[in-house]
Amino acid sequence: MYGISKFSKASFATTDYSVVVVAELALPIYKKSMKRKIYTRSHNINLLKEIDNNGNQFSAKEHAYFIEKEFGNTVFRTKEALLRDYLSGNSLKLGALGFLIERITNNGYRNILSLGSGQCVLEYLLKLSLPEESEIIATDFDTYFIEKAKSFFPEITSVTFDFFKDDIISLQNNLNVKFDIAVFFGSAYVMDDPYFIKLFADLKKIGVKEIVDFHAGYMDLKDVIVNVIVSLLRPFARNSAIRRVFHKCPVDKYKYIGKFHGYSRNRAELRKLYRKAGFKLYKELSVPNYKYVAILK
Ligand SMILES: C[S@@+](CC[C@H](N)C(=O)[O-])C[C@H]1O[C@@H](n2cnc3c(N)ncnc32)[C@H](O)[C@@H]1O
Repeated sequence: MYGISKFSKASFATTDYSVVVVAELALPIYKKSMKRKIYTRSHNINLLKEIDNNGNQFSAKEHAYFIEKEFGNTVFRTKEALLRDYLSGNSLKLGALGFLIERITNNGYRNILSLGSGQCVLEYLLKLSLPEESEIIATDFDTYFIEKAKSFFPEITSVTFDFFKDDIISLQNNLNVKFDIAVFFGSAYVMDDPYFIKLFADLKKIGVKEIVDFHAGYMDLKDVIVNVIVSLLRPFARNSAIRRVFHKCPVDKYKYIGKFHGYSRNRAELRKLYRKAGFKLYKELSVPNYKYVAILK
C-alpha cells in the first residue's frame, strides 16, 4: 500500500566510460553487506506527519488509525471495493502468487502462514486456488486490516501478529496448526536485523519446512550505483554557495523526508541474515513485482 521509494532518481549526464567506472567502484561495495533506512511520502503527508512519532517506524496502533482514516470510507467500504482497488493496483503480484501456488502444490504443503499480509487479498486468492483442505493463516499487526479480513474473507484465518512484540511459537500453539510454509509478501523488510533473525530462527524452531521471502526492500546493483553517485553529489547539491550560482533556494533542513517504514538491503546483507537465522538458501530468483525472492529451507 505504501510505495517503496528507496532512492531519489538522480539524473546525471554520463558517458559509457563513466558508467563502467562507477560500476567498477560499486561492485566491490555491493559484495559487502549494505543496508539503509527507507521512508515513504506516498500518502497523505499531513496524516503521515500526524503519526510520525519522532521518525520512528509505524506502531500497530498508528498504522491502523492511518489506514482507517485514509481508506476506511473508500477502499474498505465493501469486499468488492477492496478487491477492485487491490487488484487494479497490484496486478503484478498475481504473477508472484502463481509462483507460490505452484510451489505449494508441488510440495504438498497444507498449512500456509503469511506474515505481514496487509489487506489479505493475496491470501484470499491463495485459498481459492488451493485444495479445499488447505488452511491459510493471514497475519498483520494492523488491527483494522485484520478486522476487515475477518469480515470480508471468512474462508481464511486472520489474526493480529506484530513482528516486534508477538511470538510465533505462541501463535502456532494458540491456533493449534502446524505451519508447513511461511510466506512474506513484501513485508520482511520492515524488521531490523535482531528482529529479522529472531523471527526467522523461531520459524525454524517451530518446524516450518520452507520460507518464501518475496523481498520488497531489495537493493540491486543499479540501486547501489545510484546511491553511490547521489551520496558523492549530495554535498555539492546542498552547498549554499553553489546553489546561489544556480539560482536555487538554500536546502530546507526541516523538510519532511517521509515516514520511516523499513530497510533496504542488498543480497549480501540478506544472505547474512538468513544464515544467522539458521536457514539454507535453497534458491534465489526474480518473479513479477519482486526483483528478489529467497526460498529458504
Ligand atoms: C508492503 S506491505 C505488504 C502487504 C501485503 N503483504 C501485500 O503484499 O499487499 C507491508 C505490510 O507489513 C505490515 N507490517 C508493518 N510492520 C509490521 C509489524 N511490526 N508486524 C507485522 N506486520 C507489519 C504492514 O501493516 C503491511 O501490511
